[in-house]
Amino acid sequence: MNTFDQILPIVKDVLAKYRGDALEELGEILLNRDLNSRIRLIVSDGLRDNSAANETLQTIADDLLNSLGHRAYPINRAILFESDLNKAKEEAPSFPLEGFDRVFVVDRLTTEGNWASIKPESSGVPRIVFFSIKGGVGRSSALASVAWSLAQAGKRVLVFDLDLESPGLSSSLLPKNKQPAYGITDWLVEDLVDNGDAVLDSLFATSEFSHDGEIYVVPAHGVDPGEYVSKLGRVWMPKLGQDGLRESWSQRLQRLISALEQRIEPDVILIDSRAGIDEVASSCVTDLGASLVLLFAIDGTQTWSGYRILFDYWRRANVVPTIRERLQVVSALTPETEQIAYLERLRDSAYDLFLDMQYDEIPPGEVADRSWSFESSDFSAPHYPWPVKWHRSFSGLYSLHGRLAEIDIETVRALFGPLIDGIVQTIPLEKNNA
Ligand SMILES: Nc1ncnc2c1ncn2[C@@H]1O[C@H](COP(=O)(O)OP(=O)(O)O)[C@@H](O)[C@H]1O
Ligand SMILES: [Mg+2]
Repeated sequence: MNTFDQILPIVKDVLAKYRGDALEELGEILLNRDLNSRIRLIVSDGLRDNSAANETLQTIADDLLNSLGHRAYPINRAILFESDLNKAKEEAPSFPLEGFDRVFVVDRLTTEGNWASIKPESSGVPRIVFFSIKGGVGRSSALASVAWSLAQAGKRVLVFDLDLESPGLSSSLLPKNKQPAYGITDWLVEDLVDNGDAVLDSLFATSEFSHDGEIYVVPAHGVDPGEYVSKLGRVWMPKLGQDGLRESWSQRLQRLISALEQRIEPDVILIDSRAGIDEVASSCVTDLGASLVLLFAIDGTQTWSGYRILFDYWRRANVVPTIRERLQVVSALTPETEQIAYLERLRDSAYDLFLDMQYDEIPPGEVADRSWSFESSDFSAPHYPWPVKWHRSFSGLYSLHGRLAEIDIETVRALFGPLIDGIVQTIPLEKNNA
């Protein structure tokens, strides 16, 4: 039997035989790949009485059954007619089938995450997502230090701890006696029964590090986590409104972020994502309208093979142009010794990946002006890492809060300076609380 990765190449071969008028007549075609990875076709209701189109559809369905075997639907269930193809397309992650203008894969998954649909930048204040393929790379510590530094510079910073499965950021920015009663998980669970407002005012606290500006922290859970595991198991629930419309958990999260943005009126929002190719991470990276997605990386095959899988998915889903200008590699935990050589290696690895997956190919003899492409050594390129330094004073810290309470601006700049400068130079933070 064919294996999963052979499905789409086989479908392409089959459809290629009907290219031209026969396929044109069918209009838009959806390839529904169900939870068991079986394929069937969804086409417009308008074709039902079109005998030529029906003949083509039957032939294609036969052909798919012969080539895909158990991975195709039986012939009597191989074709579905739908009145609203756009609606069908929005029911699951969908992306164009490579090489075909009007054929789309609708990919039913058991998870709610949708890496293939990338929301445009939020029209509100800039949102910066801290993401990494692996955990334990100093991402939350870097976020806390960036928040600290921006607040020192007079900004109002709103921080969300969305690493719901390994929460911790809040305890690094807030001492126990300052932690709010509730967290993001509480709101998501309350919202299911229209009780979100009951916790909204107790969902954030200000960090005592705020000197000139202010840091508002929205933790994953409140000071007493309560039945955290039971709540966490429910946050992913979509909500059915009274109007019968379905709101995904990620849309609910966006509603929460917008509500707090309106209430707190920050200059910038920092979001600590979950690591890896995970549902919450996909929401943070693709759904929240980020202006900048920081990709924390440690040089090594585990990091790059993970990013390659993600970038390759974006490439196949044809969404690279909508995300690539918002990406930036960060060199996490940059070692103290042989730093220059290390950063060069990291840059080369990142460049290989971006060149394969993100940058435009420039045909020989053409000018690169209108393409989105960079030299390996171009320090303004997204692959060119902003270094965060490893430092023993941060290593194995019992409490980041304790460390930040006594840290000075020179130390923060020495370790996180390029990250902070990079953010300030990339993102306009000038709407200000004058
Ligand atoms: N710049 C740094 N230098 C040395 N150790 C660090 C640094 N940043 C974080 N750490 C340590 O690395 C561990 C993981 O940090 P954390 O910020 O929680 O990472 P992540 O959010 O990526 O899981 C912690 O023990 C932390 O004290
Ligand atoms: Mg973390």
